[in-house]
Amino acid sequence: MNILGIETSCDETAVAIYNPNQGIRAHAIYSQTQTHQPYGGVIPELAARDHIRKLVPLVRHVLTEADCAIGDLNGIAYTGGPGLIGAVLVGATFARSLGYARNLPTVAIHHMEGHLLAPFLEKEQPQFPFVALLVSGGHTLLMQVNAIGEYILLGETLDDSAGEAFDKTAKLLGLPYPGGPELAKLAEKGNPKRFQFPRPMMNRPNCTFSFSGLKTHVWQTWLKSNQDEQTRYDIAYAFQESVVDILISKSLRALTQTQCNELVIAGGVSANLRLRQKIAEKFPRTVKVYFPRHEFCTDNGAMIAYAGYLRIAHGERNDLRIISRARWPL
Ligand code: KG4
Ligand code: ZN
Repeated sequence: MNILGIETSCDETAVAIYNPNQGIRAHAIYSQTQTHQPYGGVIPELAARDHIRKLVPLVRHVLTEADCAIGDLNGIAYTGGPGLIGAVLVGATFARSLGYARNLPTVAIHHMEGHLLAPFLEKEQPQFPFVALLVSGGHTLLMQVNAIGEYILLGETLDDSAGEAFDKTAKLLGLPYPGGPELAKLAEKGNPKRFQFPRPMMNRPNCTFSFSGLKTHVWQTWLKSNQDEQTRYDIAYAFQESVVDILISKSLRALTQTQCNELVIAGGVSANLRLRQKIAEKFPRTVKVYFPRHEFCTDNGAMIAYAGYLRIAHGERNDLRIISRARWPL
């Protein structure tokens, strides 16, 4: 069974083919960084237009890489949301049309469910029930996952997501878009002793997050400083430590609350190396932690193809409606 996965929810056009016997047969990601960089952030209309330009060539490329003809496909999965509506619509329309033309089962996947399932593409797989920390540009939430499709929300952010906080802080410090990974790089050169930033909500006995106050704190610190390169590094370090400590502390709380001993961390911020390092240092040995491989932390087609495979193998197929949602609760 070969499932084509298509992801176009934000600023990456991504395509993959998943086969349960072979795993990911091929995948490709086209990042729109160069398109949006002059504007310092994602411009939704430009994102949609770029997906239109890149999607068909990318599908052809992945089919060739996988040595797969269109006739070898057994199903199609696409991101139906949440995301930038014009961007989602491009992938959704293409996928649904191809599915109709080739009479293939076609399913819309929730983008965050795709992220959640990305660690299942690795050899060692999480066992249910587990806790999932989903940290992306649009979401920060903790969930108890009892089975695929059985999710209990334990807590989420009241304001910015962790990824958004990384991006906005990077912008405050004058870093180019996309700021999150850049900020993480600067943090490596930071002096750990110079600044100590607050850890909002960390000691509240719940799984709720808040990151917007931290961003304000960064701004005030930057304005009061001499604004040199070393200050950038030191602020990046202190900021990253705060975010990582909050994510770790809330995840441990969720594990205690649910009495689970497995944790899945996925979404763009799960690519953060300091987060992985501190988890290795601070987590009790009794807790098993699963991350996707680096390239499947941020947006990719593989996670959508895999989520689609699970649904299609269960006999699911959507009707002919094109599903495209800016907001969509998991
Ligand atoms: O999952 P993702 O690719 O897209 C969304 O679904 O939003 O996540 C993107 C987010 C961005 O906010 C980006 O800054 C953040 O993930 N991110 C990182 C790192 N790599 C990506 N944040 C911190 N450290 C990183 N290494
Ligand atoms: Zn994402």
